[in-house]
Amino acid sequence: MKNTTYVNPDMLYKQGMILKYIEDYNLQPINVLDIGAGHTNLSLYLIKNYKVNYLGIDSNPKLKKGFFECIEINDININKKPIFSFNNQICSCQLYPKYEAKKFFNFTSDEKYDLIYDVCALIHFDVNQIFCKNDGLYKAGLTIKNLLTDDGIFIFVSDCFKEGSYKEFIKPEECLKCFLKSGLKLVPNTSTFCPRENIKKYTSNNIFNLHSCEEIEKSFPGIITNDSCATHDVIFYVFKK
Ligand SMILES: C[S@@+](CC[C@H](N)C(=O)[O-])C[C@H]1O[C@@H](n2cnc3c(N)ncnc32)[C@H](O)[C@@H]1O
Repeated sequence: MKNTTYVNPDMLYKQGMILKYIEDYNLQPINVLDIGAGHTNLSLYLIKNYKVNYLGIDSNPKLKKGFFECIEINDININKKPIFSFNNQICSCQLYPKYEAKKFFNFTSDEKYDLIYDVCALIHFDVNQIFCKNDGLYKAGLTIKNLLTDDGIFIFVSDCFKEGSYKEFIKPEECLKCFLKSGLKLVPNTSTFCPRENIKKYTSNNIFNLHSCEEIEKSFPGIITNDSCATHDVIFYVFKK
């Protein structure tokens, strides 16, 4: 997908993990909520190819503008293709993507989502505030739980703690503790820890759709790349309510 923001191998790695999970389990998401959305290739891909109903939330209004520019440059044509439920009733059709420029904690909705994801955003929120250290994630977990459909999933993929790095980065087990405390349940065997050394290594053998900056530039002339790749370990979890 073409993008107007910078793209680096590290970001594509995290997005690739979500797409791999969707493909491996043959998921067909319908209503998608993207927390701290930015404008990722993953979201554009799901809108274009999976025809999902998409809502992005990001506190930065500039990113909302950028997101809709990306919709344009990728020729994403929202055709209102009906999706039939098992008893052949029309239960959903693709809606034009929505994007709210607001803080996630100010977001409320009666809608339910069968796929909610966070690509490296929640850890930048109010993690050291609210109830105790890192309880921003706990509070986010409570909100997410309310927004999930009964069989919906929340995928969390994020940079995590590195000795000496910014204080906002959280140890993987603390992220897990916060979400479990909020009542979310970890889907068995989904917890994946990826040390940054491995992410760097994967750059060369193209696992998880990962490409080097040179490859990205060759495939998408004019794209802005940033090769400050794999500066942190990455943690991946899938939760249900
Ligand atoms: C590291 S970026 C990740 C963006 C995108 N998910 C990606 O993978 O490229 C973190 C994003 O969180 C957004 N953000 C920070 N605080 C937020 C808040 N309280 N509510 C919603 N979005 C927020 C920022 O504007 C930024 O776009």
